[in-house]
Amino acid sequence: MKIFIDTANVDEIKNITEWGILDGVTTNPTLLAREIKRTGRKPQDILKEICDVVKGPVSAESTATDSRGIYEEGKKLSEISKYITIKVPMTIEGLKAIKLLVGDGIMTNTTLVFSLNQALLSAKVGSTFVSPFIGRIDDTGHNGMDLIDEIITTYDNYGYETEVIVASIRHPMHIVEAAQIGADIVTVPFKVLEKMVKHPLTDIGIKRFEDDWKEAERILKES
Ligand code: G3P
Repeated sequence: MKIFIDTANVDEIKNITEWGILDGVTTNPTLLAREIKRTGRKPQDILKEICDVVKGPVSAESTATDSRGIYEEGKKLSEISKYITIKVPMTIEGLKAIKLLVGDGIMTNTTLVFSLNQALLSAKVGSTFVSPFIGRIDDTGHNGMDLIDEIITTYDNYGYETEVIVASIRHPMHIVEAAQIGADIVTVPFKVLEKMVKHPLTDIGIKRFEDDWKEAERILKES
């Protein structure tokens, strides 16, 4: 399973890149606005630096609403780097724009997907990625992970190549369940990535090894 980080924070991205586990990045207007506010930098400069660091797909979202506008904005964004993936909200205009962008060899990520029908249409137009927002489905009292299961089964039925990015992840169990279902990608906030590493028994084990080794060194010194 590929692991993306869901942030536009360049410091977080650099940090996780050093772990050696990062395959890509997803941003959205909210995340990019947060980074612009934090650093005062231009969005193009932020995205360029992220691409240079990650060297894998980096989703940048179009904010236009008509297909021509999304397409033009997507073309411009794609000039930043070959790693830029155009994130397009799931609308009729969005579908038209995705078709055009894919025709130009530009990677796309259909976003704000909440149903199997939307995911089916995304695959039909050949989107590179589809992003179902499972946390936001959970927020409505339904099980977001059921949708991932349905999409993967349906894509397998027809051999669609669109890769499923499990998005709007809120906690480590979302990742466990996505992996068991066989999702292609999870896009994970920094804090949840940190939680993936942690286990209390690992910490207890490290402490015990350290204490036992210190005791052995003390004995050796005294003998
Ligand atoms: O990748 C989508 C993600 O950024 C949305 O997450 O937590 O705002 O639902 P959230």
